[in-house]
Amino acid sequence: MRGLKVPKRQGESVHKYLVEKNALLKGYKIKRNDEFLYFPLNGEVPGYEIVDMDFEKSSSHPESLCKFGLKSYDTIGDIAIVDIPEELEDKKEDIAHILLNRRSIQTVVRKTSRISGTLRTRTYEHLSGEEKTVTIHKEYGLLFKVDIEKVYFNPRLSTERWRIAQDVKPGEVVIDMFCGVGPFSIMIAKNAQPEVVYAIDINPRAIELLRENIVLNKVNKVVPILGDARKKIALLGYADRIIMNLPQNAFEFLPEALSHGKIVHYYCITSDIEREYERIHALRQNLGHTIHIMSQTTVKSYAPDMDMYRIDLTTM
Ligand SMILES: C[S@@+](CC[C@H](N)C(=O)[O-])C[C@H]1O[C@@H](n2cnc3c(N)ncnc32)[C@H](O)[C@@H]1O
Repeated sequence: MRGLKVPKRQGESVHKYLVEKNALLKGYKIKRNDEFLYFPLNGEVPGYEIVDMDFEKSSSHPESLCKFGLKSYDTIGDIAIVDIPEELEDKKEDIAHILLNRRSIQTVVRKTSRISGTLRTRTYEHLSGEEKTVTIHKEYGLLFKVDIEKVYFNPRLSTERWRIAQDVKPGEVVIDMFCGVGPFSIMIAKNAQPEVVYAIDINPRAIELLRENIVLNKVNKVVPILGDARKKIALLGYADRIIMNLPQNAFEFLPEALSHGKIVHYYCITSDIEREYERIHALRQNLGHTIHIMSQTTVKSYAPDMDMYRIDLTTM
């Protein structure tokens, strides 16, 4: 979910502004710490810092999941995806019923595994509503057809994709090494003016859906490539920018990325960011060419003691 972050002293005026603009996401609690307030958003609010985060359902909501101790769920298109612990097994129908009554939800599924394997997919149990796994997800005005069982898609990365698209300069050649159904590639093609975006994925179903998403979003700068990014990148020329959204094992592909691009957006999930820097430093010595660390961004929290980071590297 997207949150607008403001210093506490601006809270009152920003709250008023968001209510006027009808940009506050209803049914969720505003978050706070000692310095900042975080408002749950349902619309565009230019000029403010936007962060990806979870918000707790407000207990005043008549159909809140809070009574079951569940804080959040995801929606991809019209499919609600909920993580129900085993001790709530006998409540799963009630939970599904609450979610199915939410506006625009047609299907409710429960996660039955962790994301795993090369294709980064998981399994689901159908709980309620239409029995399907394919849906169309809307993000920043774009449409992404997704098959939740066959491909990876994370609606919580929408702000990150938007941020990357803002960085792309006109005429850039971009390589999206692990593109999935194309959310980074299409966000860039639609919101920047790249010369071309090469979108690589090893999952045939992801590339099939990417082709459909290119048509759905009427973009013509994205070139889908099915195969292993390590091999396929060697066939492409030098790129201005490479996106490495495979946080669990992008490090294995880093030498290839650094040899083929000027700016590399490297994603990782770790509880120890210093160790990640040590690994990059060691690689720098082995590769024997220049690698500068440009910046580091915390993309989202992954587990209580782990975050997902983006480290921007350059070989110039
Ligand atoms: C974490 S997902 C990211 C997908 C997409 N960037 C997104 O934001 O939805 C990683 C993707 O990398 C793909 N993948 C894994 N190993 C690969 C490889 N060796 N070459 C190309 N793609 C690969 C998976 O199929 C998966 O779609």
